[in-house]
Amino acid sequence: PRIYIPADSGALALGAEKVAKAIEKELKERGVEAKIVRNGSRGAYFLEPMVEVATAEGRVAYGPVKPSDVKSLFDSGFLKGGHHKRWLGAPDKIPFFAKQTRLTFARCGIIDPLSLDSYKSHGGLNGLQNAVAMAPADIVKQVTESGLRGRGGAGFPTGIKWKTVLDTAGAQKYIVCNADEGDSATFADRMIMEGDPFVLIEGMAIAGIATGATKGFVYIRSEYPHAVATMNKAVAIARKAGVLGVNVLGSPNAFDMEIRVGAGAYVCGEETSLLNSLEGKRGVVRAKPPLPAIQGLFGKPTVINNVISLASVPIIMDKGAAYYKDFGMGRSRGTIPIQIAGNVKHGGLFETAFGLTLGEIVDDIGGGTASGRPVKAVQVGGPLGAYFPRALFDTPFDYEEFAKRDGLIGHAGITVFDDSADMLKQARFAMEFCAIESCGKCTPCRIGSTRGVEVLDKVAAGIEAEKNLALVTDLCNTMKFGSLCALGGFTPYPVMSSITHFPEDFKPAPARVAAE
Ligand code: NAI
Ligand code: SF4
Repeated sequence: PRIYIPADSGALALGAEKVAKAIEKELKERGVEAKIVRNGSRGAYFLEPMVEVATAEGRVAYGPVKPSDVKSLFDSGFLKGGHHKRWLGAPDKIPFFAKQTRLTFARCGIIDPLSLDSYKSHGGLNGLQNAVAMAPADIVKQVTESGLRGRGGAGFPTGIKWKTVLDTAGAQKYIVCNADEGDSATFADRMIMEGDPFVLIEGMAIAGIATGATKGFVYIRSEYPHAVATMNKAVAIARKAGVLGVNVLGSPNAFDMEIRVGAGAYVCGEETSLLNSLEGKRGVVRAKPPLPAIQGLFGKPTVINNVISLASVPIIMDKGAAYYKDFGMGRSRGTIPIQIAGNVKHGGLFETAFGLTLGEIVDDIGGGTASGRPVKAVQVGGPLGAYFPRALFDTPFDYEEFAKRDGLIGHAGITVFDDSADMLKQARFAMEFCAIESCGKCTPCRIGSTRGVEVLDKVAAGIEAEKNLALVTDLCNTMKFGSLCALGGFTPYPVMSSITHFPEDFKPAPARVAAE
């Protein structure tokens, strides 16, 4: 039999390594031969560590498994899928998975991440195989027609970005993958790098062939040591197998790549700051223009895309633009891996076509708060995203629909808060976060964020609250329109949404105390 135990960092944090050790010990003691595969996570963190056994009737899942469950699992005939209190049945039938549409994450948590054979037998490399036989402009056309937009957060059409690079002359061009994933509540990039690294490599190779770039870099945040290790191993395997190198899949196209590790600055997720960091310079934001597509890494034309944007390309090149475009709504096409986190019962990664409402995601999929108290607010799009109250739960997950309501979907991380959250504190946190993470290049962000903390402290202390709230609003406008990059420019979203949707939390202190 085969036993699947995730080696994904989220599962490891929940004790997967101890469970693996206990299972190995038990197998030895019972003299049973079984192959243990360390897979990625399927993304239901409320069920991790989730162990699966391959039986004649298909896979059977158990979770969350504790080391102390292992003996009784074996006693219950776990290797044949026997019943046990941790028994979950066929993973595909677990509602959290059954409701998903997995395109980008189709293999994540299912295959052995470092087995290229397993990758291929689950549809891997079909996209690259098609791409090597196509003219670059046709690949770019297909990606454009698929409607894929940048999953890092800005939602810029990927095909148009690639076209700019294709059309820009340059002896050397680069593909840079942004795996800095600094947003709170986000873990999609990490999950794919740990659970299906070849899909990212394949996506980058396709991007290289499409734009004439022969070299790629993945910039991974230092907080992701497991992703760094898996990606390094996967690149070496891909190179040895001829997926990377001077003749990609035996074609005349050359493409190779390297993994680089960041040093812990949130702003290095901003593309130009990331490029500076990759070049060995301080991670300070560069003015745009010139766009990285024209003058990027080392001044050369560069495609810089988020992990999920690149990892979504293989399926598009395999099944075609129309297939991908068929999912979604409005101008938000395809699927989006929503990361549900914070005070929520069923936290995890939920890939689905665009269009589910925020309420469906939080209440139906997420199951409400973990604390059991009413949901007060949901922050969508990381620390720079807006807080949405229940009244906006009918907002469909779509770039334009969120923008219409002064929000953003960003990298699709959502953080749930119950009614004990103090939105004034959350607004102050946003300003403080900006002050700590600011690169210091422009005044609205560098000075504005510190002043923002001070003024909100005055509001909290009840000092001329009305006047100071007006001052915060004014400051937010200056930051929004005067900052050089999204860090200073987006900090007003959490601040202003808190003030707009939760005014009761901004009443002067005595009134707030009285109200409580
Ligand atoms: P942006 O709107 O300035 O740019 C979007 C992308 O399109 C960039 O790569 C830009 O170079 C490119 N671009 C624009 N016009 C182009 C053209 N004509 N040809 C080729 N490329 C072109 O947005 P920015 O500042 O890059 O990103 C902001 C977003 O980042 C926010 O929406 C936020 O949600 C997100 N974000 C994501 C984080 C994460 O952890 N993934 C962390 C923090 C913010
Ligand atoms: Fe740097 Fe902040 Fe200005 Fe961005 S907005 S360039 S992080 S100072």
